[in-house]
Amino acid sequence: MRLAGKCALVTGSSSGIGRAIAQAFAREGADVVVHYDREKDEADEVVVELDKLGRRATAIQADVGVTAEAQRLVGDAIKALGHLDILVNNAGVEVRGPFVDVTEELYDFVLGVNLKGAFFAAQAAARHMIERGGGRIINITSIHEDVAFLEFATYAASKGGMRMFMRAVCQELAPHGITVNDIAPGAIATPINKRTLGDGNLLQELQSVIPAGRLGEPEEVAAVAVFLASDEAAYVTGSTYCVDGGMSRWNKGL
Ligand code: BGC
Repeated sequence: MRLAGKCALVTGSSSGIGRAIAQAFAREGADVVVHYDREKDEADEVVVELDKLGRRATAIQADVGVTAEAQRLVGDAIKALGHLDILVNNAGVEVRGPFVDVTEELYDFVLGVNLKGAFFAAQAAARHMIERGGGRIINITSIHEDVAFLEFATYAASKGGMRMFMRAVCQELAPHGITVNDIAPGAIATPINKRTLGDGNLLQELQSVIPAGRLGEPEEVAAVAVFLASDEAAYVTGSTYCVDGGMSRWNKGL
């Protein structure tokens, strides 16, 4: 087992990619805090699954878009598990709409959860990891940390921000044995893509811009997270790993 004895907090792990990461971590021997905002029942289900794998698991609620809550979440996770080796900033939201219609409220919602929440959770975790002499911070971003996304200006801004905050802090944390990396998923079959998955034409259109010809599975993202969280990845920091079936490299060649 590659994560035996490690303690992890995975934000937004009641469903989708976060849930798959929590499960993969537990299968590799980690104890896990399952964070959720509104999906209590789903989070409790994940805890039961992790318990069955013989791991310590607990669900903690927080709105990570509120800085004090993101900080409290990290503190509660440390209390629940005893310490923290791995933070996965996975919680994320996206709202589509034309740039000219974006309100301050929408901006604060998307940037708050995706960027500010990840930033301050990472800061709280880093303070603890510095004292412990090591750790892993993994942001689940999106290929849209780099690739433009039509009518998703807030989302793209938040993910681009995560990319540069990862690159900036990796320098400060490397001397403490803490690595910071991003995983940039493309289109993955999760609830965030519910609308596309339920519409045959949209789905076909999406598949046509993915060289691999299909959506990814959450487990395919989780496999990279396990590697980045493991001792094997001690020298890997400051990078983004795309898990996108080639989507970010797609070009029709007209
Ligand atoms: C978004 C999905 C989208 C995918 C590829 C992800 O970050 O959450 O809605 O399908 O990027 O564009």
